[in-house]
Amino acid sequence: MRILVLHGPNLNLLGQREPEVYGRWTLAEINEALIEQATKTQTELRIMQSNHEGVLIDAIHDARIWGQGILINPGAFTHYSYALRDAIAAVGLPAVEVHLSNVYAREAFRHKSVIAPVCIGQISGFGWRSYRLGLMALLDHLLD
Ligand code: DQA
Repeated sequence: MRILVLHGPNLNLLGQREPEVYGRWTLAEINEALIEQATKTQTELRIMQSNHEGVLIDAIHDARIWGQGILINPGAFTHYSYALRDAIAAVGLPAVEVHLSNVYAREAFRHKSVIAPVCIGQISGFGWRSYRLGLMALLDHLLD
């Protein structure tokens, strides 16, 4: 099983960025935990972070050649990127959307996800564990 793990804009700053909202784990630490989790189920992760919408879209397109699923934290693109949404719909791979913070407990503009409707589900509010839960849910779906 090969899974694309995508981190959107500003997530490269995790650890320093608003730790009271996003926690103290760095992106590298989150990735390490995910790799450890994936190894237990013979799953290969290809992990990428970008601050650029087009780079994320290209990675989603490429994943249709080699991947079976997508775990994505689209960052602020969650709330307005129809292009990212269309890319996920276009490749037809099962995707799980994750958020560190509980977006529904925050500003109104974060309450809407344009990505969630093209995902099999969304996990929000469990800090770095949202990624762990998201990967579990995706693998469970794929192995069903
Ligand atoms: C986020 C929530 C988004 O609203 C925000 O723009 C982010 C991070 C999260 O993981 O909680 O960049 O996706």
